[in-house]
Amino acid sequence: MPSDPSIGHARRRAASLRHAATYAAIVLVAAAGCDDGPAGPGDKKRDPIDPELAAQGRQIFRHDDFGDAAFWTDTLRLHELVEQVDPRTALQLGLKVDADAVPPAVLQAVLADTSALSDPATTRALLALDAVVGLKATVEGERVARIGVTCALCHSTVDDAVAPGIGGRLDGWPNRDLAVGTIVSLTPGLPEELRSTYASWPAGWFDPRFNVDGISDPVLIPPAYGLDGVELETYTGEGPVSYWNNYVAVVEMHGRGSFSDPRLGIDIQVPEDQDLVKDKLLPLFHYQRTLAAPPPPAGSFSAEAAALGEELFEGAARCAECHQGSGLSGDELHAPARTGMDPAYARRSATGLYRATPLRGLWQHAPYFHDGSAATLADVVAHYDAHLNLGLTAEERARLVEYLGSL
Ligand code: HEC
Ligand code: HEC
Repeated sequence: MPSDPSIGHARRRAASLRHAATYAAIVLVAAAGCDDGPAGPGDKKRDPIDPELAAQGRQIFRHDDFGDAAFWTDTLRLHELVEQVDPRTALQLGLKVDADAVPPAVLQAVLADTSALSDPATTRALLALDAVVGLKATVEGERVARIGVTCALCHSTVDDAVAPGIGGRLDGWPNRDLAVGTIVSLTPGLPEELRSTYASWPAGWFDPRFNVDGISDPVLIPPAYGLDGVELETYTGEGPVSYWNNYVAVVEMHGRGSFSDPRLGIDIQVPEDQDLVKDKLLPLFHYQRTLAAPPPPAGSFSAEAAALGEELFEGAARCAECHQGSGLSGDELHAPARTGMDPAYARRSATGLYRATPLRGLWQHAPYFHDGSAATLADVVAHYDAHLNLGLTAEERARLVEYLGSL
């Protein structure tokens, strides 16, 4: 989003990790508490998921804009753009339609009449039905009066059951088709000097720090599934789930809420009774924990080779030195050079380091690493083989790939 003077560019990067630990402790105590349930090395013991909170959290994840319509409507004027976009263009930009929100007869009529797909009135009708994933709009006749964005914009897609881009929601799946940079670049309210930067971000990429430090170096939108038991969120392990949810809701989506992190030089405060984010973090957290990684399609890997690959992962290939616990992540952070990663993005974060990414649903979300530098799982393994001097044979590398594809 455009530079926000209230955030400022000064960041005290060297500031203590202690702050993160304190924040983690507060959020975890508030959000999770402790029990004596089983926990792997990378896990913290947590309360059971509360189904009622999780149901509220689902509603928030899908439909709550945290009051960010003030920014997306009054500042960016996204509503003016959306009013004129036909569904075909919206789908090309990677927006998704939740088929379950559209009465079947209406859906059939739209699909049967190709002119409906080139008519912006259809987009407005879909928005009025709350059927465009991640967009929350108020439609008044020919006009879109207000529009905001929700978490689902970037972290949901659909199963294409009806047509490409139209189907049932898949919450937690990264929307790698979403040209979010292009969409922002086209908003009438965006300062001219920022247009070309936003336009340069490929579909599936977003820079959640650009409006803080002015550097454009987008990262892949990650999955938001398979995070139950994963202690540290973000590629750079800045804090637990609720820390980052709070960051995104306030700093990126521009929801109405408070967020402060001295490590990043960010201190945004709203009066407590006007905070539309704070009370939603707990239900969101419970919902996020229900989002399991999607299992690999049947027959997509060889179970026998995967089992041999797992042995290598735990042993000779040294993967388990960093990828541990039920999430195959870990609570230690790693210097970029240790795993041969580009340090540029880590440098902009509060930690300066990378977290061992939790390995979940890998079959689903190529490319890999924060910067997409490995196109395939074979590239991932080749990267480690070379960087860690593992000396794996072609057969061993293939087995590791099968194992990764089974996660
Ligand atoms: C405009 C796109 C966008 C929106 C909207 C968005 N996110 Fe994200 N999200 C990202 C990107 C990009 C990252 C990667 C940032 C990083 O790791 O440095 C991310 C990271 C995350 C992570 C960490 C995943 C991991 O593996 O560590 C979680 C959890 C998350 N987002 C949840 C949310 C929630 C909850 C919301 C709504 C409050 C939300 N996001 C809204 C783009 C988005
Ligand atoms: C020294 C610690 C360390 C070791 C050893 C290690 N990893 Fe990683 N792994 C990381 C870090 C850190 C990242 C995040 C890098 C990034 O995003 O740039 C990562 C990311 C990944 C990813 C990307 C996941 C995604 O969703 O993008 C895969 C896959 C992976 N590692 C597999 C492996 C395999 C297989 C091995 C063993 C051959 C291995 N790792 C060894 C630390 C390690």
